[in-house]
Amino acid sequence: MNKIVEVLPDKEALIQRSLVIVVEQMQAAIATRGLCTIALAGGSTPKPLYERLATQTLPWDKIHIFWGDERYVPPDHPDSNEGMARHAWLDKVAFPPENIHPMPTAHADPAVSANQHEAELQQFFQLQPGAFPSFDIILLGIGDDGHTASLFPHTEALQVRDRLTTVGNKDGQARITFTASLINHARAVLFLVAGASKRPALAQIFADVADNMTYPARLIQPEGELWWLLDQAAGQELETR
Ligand code: 6PG
Repeated sequence: MNKIVEVLPDKEALIQRSLVIVVEQMQAAIATRGLCTIALAGGSTPKPLYERLATQTLPWDKIHIFWGDERYVPPDHPDSNEGMARHAWLDKVAFPPENIHPMPTAHADPAVSANQHEAELQQFFQLQPGAFPSFDIILLGIGDDGHTASLFPHTEALQVRDRLTTVGNKDGQARITFTASLINHARAVLFLVAGASKRPALAQIFADVADNMTYPARLIQPEGELWWLLDQAAGQELETR
């Protein structure tokens, strides 16, 4: 794992820096493999990044969009990560519809949807059973509680190692999420973290010793590059070694 930590002066600089890195990573993937696979983060932090990506000129037909997690709501629901990304970016540029691979949230049983998405990933990446794909880029955030994707503290999702996707649980609300195992097979993982409220969780995530079940973002130790892009409010006081 190659860990890079950058503390930017403010959120504007964080978003601008993440735009440069994501565009570079996309272009490198396309140059090397002919396409780019990227999994998007939800929440509020990445929205301005998605808005700026919509202003770029990129070969959208060579970019495939996935999500690292999804709230268990329809895409037109205000909480939908798919809906947020479509509004901020995907619907503004010429992505072929088949390049966008949302997590399904229609079935009454979220576990069925998680299995459906796993099957879609296995088909897209032409995987043998038990194999994990390597996404070119996985974008993540962290919650104030140290969760990432929908891997929440002390939930069953943290124990799932042999699947690509599973059901997350936020205070009883179902989510669909990539497993830590799938995230850790990525070529590049980028955490985008802004705001002073994230500082206590970051201190635990970066600590030499802390409980991974309490701070699930600690589970993210990818084989490839691990970028932590922080604004000053989140990243000050952090021992970035
Ligand atoms: C989600 C996200 C989640 C998010 C963090 C940070 O579905 O909510 O995937 O993991 O990244 O909660 O959210 P903010 O960016 O809003 O602080």
